[in-house]
Amino acid sequence: MKKITIDAVNEKYNVYIGDCLHLLESYIKPKQKVLIITDETVKSLHFDTLKQYVKTPYVFSLGKIPEKDKNFITYEACVNYCLNHFLDRNLLVLAFGGGVVTDFAGFFASTYKRGIKLIHLPTTILAHDSSVGGKTALNVSQYKNVVGSFYQPKSVIYHLPFLKTLKEKDIVSGFGEIFKHDLLSEGYLLDILDKETSLYHLLYNQKLIEKIMYHSILVKKLYIEMDIYDQLGKRQFLNLGHTLGHAIERLYGYSHGEAISLGICFDLFLSDNSYYRTFYHKLIKWGYFKEKQDFDLEKIMISMKNDKKNEEDSLKFIGLYTFGQPYEIQLTEEEFIHKFKQFKQVLLCCMEK
Ligand SMILES: NC(=O)c1ccc[n+]([C@@H]2O[C@H](COP(=O)([O-])OP(=O)(O)OC[C@H]3O[C@@H](n4cnc5c(N)ncnc54)[C@H](O)[C@@H]3O)[C@@H](O)[C@H]2O)c1
Repeated sequence: MKKITIDAVNEKYNVYIGDCLHLLESYIKPKQKVLIITDETVKSLHFDTLKQYVKTPYVFSLGKIPEKDKNFITYEACVNYCLNHFLDRNLLVLAFGGGVVTDFAGFFASTYKRGIKLIHLPTTILAHDSSVGGKTALNVSQYKNVVGSFYQPKSVIYHLPFLKTLKEKDIVSGFGEIFKHDLLSEGYLLDILDKETSLYHLLYNQKLIEKIMYHSILVKKLYIEMDIYDQLGKRQFLNLGHTLGHAIERLYGYSHGEAISLGICFDLFLSDNSYYRTFYHKLIKWGYFKEKQDFDLEKIMISMKNDKKNEEDSLKFIGLYTFGQPYEIQLTEEEFIHKFKQFKQVLLCCMEK
């Protein structure tokens, strides 16, 4: 088991990584009321394991496709559930699931009765990212994460055996944020993973997956601790791949990690960083982009204009001079169109065939 301490200005918390679910007991006081927020899939697969460490009648579950429930309707249902059960501000929320559950439960915990205690129990690869750093979110209409807050958990208990039941598409998705973190440091994991033809069996190599997660969370720690509230221009670098990625995720149903991986290729291309080709070929080898898409530039443009990262009239991307050296790129609409057409020609044409 490994431990990383996050120092979020006035709040410090530990992230435990490995075989660590038993640690949950030490965070629950006798008579503490606990609400588990989860989704239907995680509940059916892993609730029995969780029940060995926490007994509570209060469970609120998002549906089988949790992203569809990351909204105000479900938020209101959750508030009503708690009010109907007379749950007060001493409540502890356990966010038990993937990135959707940690975003949703984080937002809920930050607002219910003006803030209640929160512990993340991430169950997807991607949630190693969403559970650390304190960003919470809800989607509104088709726009992702436009409402949210900064709210730090009391702890993150990342019990890696839960990952073994993930489907291939969620493994592929989860690694997107790992690649991003790695490119924002020294490319150490991309080197290690180069030997692998599939990412799936890594989940059965407990030592290696622990090392990968530890490294990835450590990179995230470095960026967030420089800029906890995302106001000093440092934390925005974690948006590498996200401007184009979010638009593609919304429009074409790509998984989050797959969409941002393509967005990363685009950001590398924008930076004249030739690594975009190598990275793209690695992704293909690991099973990314199996679904062919005919990208509609106009729709992508409209979708990107509503992205919360943009300011005034420009579109904001994150470039990378070299591993670990990100910088901000601003493009006008015309510049984006020009660059995207070039990108389509050199890479995406292979996907669209
Ligand atoms: N707050 C942040 O900093 C941050 C960072 C990155 C991503 N996100 C958000 O995270 C979300 C994506 O997260 P995700 O990819 O984990 O999606 P997700 O939560 O939808 O999980 C993906 C699928 O895996 C299932 N699942 C979860 N754990 C499982 C397990 N152990 N075994 C089998 N199936 C399991 C879920 O039911 C779901 O169907 C997006 O909404 C994104 O905006 C937030």
